[in-house]
Order: sequence, then structure tokens, then C-alpha cells
Amino acid sequence: MRPAPPRSTLWRHARLASFQAGTAWGWIEDAALWVEGDTLRWVGPDSALPAGLPAGLQVQDLQSALVTPGLIDAHTHLVYGGDRAAEFEQRLQGASYEDIARAGGGIRSTVAATRAASDEALFQAAARRARALMAEGVTTVEIKSGYGLTQADEARCLAVARRLGRELPLTVRTTSLAAHALPPEFAGRADDYIDAAITWLAGQHAAGLVDAVDAFCDTIGFTPAQTERVFQAAQALGLPVKLHAEQLSDQNGAALAARHCALSCDHLEHLSPAGIHAMAQAGTVAVLLPGAFYFLRETKRPPVQALRDAGVPIAIATDHNPGSSPCLSLLLMLNMACTFFRLTPEEAWRGVTVNAARALGLADRGVLAAGQRADFAVWDAEHPRELAYRFGQGPRPRVVQGGREIIT
Ligand code: NIG
Ligand code: FE
Repeated sequence: MRPAPPRSTLWRHARLASFQAGTAWGWIEDAALWVEGDTLRWVGPDSALPAGLPAGLQVQDLQSALVTPGLIDAHTHLVYGGDRAAEFEQRLQGASYEDIARAGGGIRSTVAATRAASDEALFQAAARRARALMAEGVTTVEIKSGYGLTQADEARCLAVARRLGRELPLTVRTTSLAAHALPPEFAGRADDYIDAAITWLAGQHAAGLVDAVDAFCDTIGFTPAQTERVFQAAQALGLPVKLHAEQLSDQNGAALAARHCALSCDHLEHLSPAGIHAMAQAGTVAVLLPGAFYFLRETKRPPVQALRDAGVPIAIATDHNPGSSPCLSLLLMLNMACTFFRLTPEEAWRGVTVNAARALGLADRGVLAAGQRADFAVWDAEHPRELAYRFGQGPRPRVVQGGREIIT
């Protein structure tokens, strides 16, 4: 028996922000997208549709609705137990994020709650969070571990992230972040903890649980020397690296990460000119996280103009986590990237599409063009700048993921 031909749909009459290079927004005023299986077979002006479209092709008339690529959230910590609302109150009474961390709270309080949660409870809570992101058009999400901090708990959190990717219509990329905080059982022995974390990584990799490796290089995280040992271990396994860099202080983490050809450096409020130069040379993406900037009431902004001048690609992500960014709206991050960081709406959009894909090392998405994955969102709007401009209005797009309409 011959295999059935892949399902084929022609989406006609879209106002399309394709993010293809060459024009602002990759704009096509009256566009068609021909989808075969999970892939875009052809994208272009509706008036230039190719001849020889298959008989029996399903046709959907979008009636001039706006189409954008599916959104990509390139930095989240979606799998954890508990919340940190009490810590939020403490911070409002004057304690700083660093004070709370040094007193054993912060990340470590989420570690205790995560260790105490069952696999199923972690999965259900993370699935609820993932569905909230998806409702706004997110089709790909990166999820970090980093709240288990034992061999078993780190593996459990990565396995929960993998299960999300299997059970939801969502691409999940996993990142191992054992070097997130020092767990209490290693107090005073950070180097020993890094030795342990490095041995866990090989097992996680062998079990197919990890796509990339991250670390938190800061005064309340790990030193550059410890970070470098994590990177060397990752690279020995052939895994790409990323870094929580220069969030609270300048540790020269970005330059270190760039030396290891990092996919991205994230946060970057305290990034130096030398760090920018190193990132530009290495092609490392700057992932800016306006939710954490806002929620920690930071005043030092990442050096956006210098990043632009150096040609460093900029991505935007939610950094969803219970301590510094309990936010589940990537559209709100678009707005905040514009208001706080002065990105243009188009730069912000490139930050959740084409540049976010690059921050994850994914070449098959983020742009709507022939050969790319058929991940896109259909919006009740005329232009994507409207979605960066409005906030708190909860637009609900139709969403196509891998060629299938998953939200109608
Ligand atoms: O990306 N900076 C370190 N990690 C997280 C926060 C983690 C937490 O506070 O639980 C971040 O902001
Ligand atoms: Fe983070």
C-alpha cells in the first residue's frame, strides 16, 4: 500500500509578518501559505500562487487576518513546586532579592518545594503554565531545570519537561541548569557541588533529557571558574551552552560564554563593552528578560543601543519562574521590551520569533518561509505592532503548530 499523502492546506488572504529578511517585518500584504504535513511548502503573495497545487487541497480563507510565526519563549523555568508570594511581600518591606537568597530563601525555597512535589504534581502545574503561554500563540518553549539540585530531582524536572513536549502540541527544548544555586547539603562546598553536577550531566545526556546547558554566574550563583567547568563538561558531551550572565553584577560571564560559542547570554543588565564585543564575535544571542527587570525593580537597563551597534541579535523571553518573573505572557514581554528597553515593536517581535529560534539553535522556525515548520498564529489585528502596543487585553489567536490547528 502506498503511504497516504501528507495533509495539505492552503491558507489564503493573510496579512503576513513573515520575518523573512529584506523588508520590514517581512511583510506581505495579501499572502498565501501552503502547508504540507508539518512544513510550509510555499509562502508568498496570494497573486503569485504556484501552478499545480494538489487536487483536494483544503483551503482556508483568512479574510485579511494577521498571521505571524508561532511565538518562541526562549527562556523559562516552567517546572517547579510552590510559589514565592511571601518573598514578594518581604521584598516590598525592604529585603533585597540577594538578601533573601543569602538567608537561604529565594531559589532554595523553591528547591525545597520542588523536591517535595510528586512528578505528577510538577507535570500538572507546568502543563497549566505551558497552556497559558500557548493561548497567546507560543508554539516553542525552552524549559530549564534548576530547582531540583540533586541527581534524581534534576532528572525528574527534565523528564517532566520532556513529557510536556510529548503530551502537548508544543515543541519543548530542555536546558540543564544544575548550576543554578548551591543546595543546602553542599553549603560551603561549591566546587564539590559543581563536580557532582558535572557527573549528573553525562547521565541526563545519555537518557536524552537535555538539549543545552546553562549556569547562573553571579555573586549569589557560581563563579566564572565554576561556570567554565560546567561549560567544558557540556562541550565534551557535544551540548551547546547558554548563560544567566551579568544579571545582578558584571562577572565577565558573557565573554566567558562567548569563548564557549554560547547560543545565548541572558539578562545582561550589567553587560560591559568587552562582553558585547565577545558576543558579537561569537554570534551569541542576547536574551533580554523584561519581566525579571520589572519584578526585581531594577533600574540598570541592558545596553540595548550598544548591542544594536555591535550587531548582536536580541531575543525577548518571559524567564517564567516563581522568584523573579512569575509571568505567563510573552505578549506582555513584547510591550515591556518596548517600554523599558526601548526596543522597536519590530525588534521585540524579532526577539520572540527569528532571534528566539537562534537562541535555541533551531534553524527550522521563527520565520515563515518555504521549508520552515508550519507554526503560526492568526490574530484579530491589522498589524503586529498592535500586539506590542496593547497590554493586559489577552488576545487569543488561532494557533497552527506543526501544520495542525491546535487552538481554533
Ligand atoms: O532567571 N537568575 C537566576 N535565575 C532566575 C530566578 C530564579 C529564582 O529566583 O527562582 C532568573 O531570574
Ligand atoms: Fe532565568
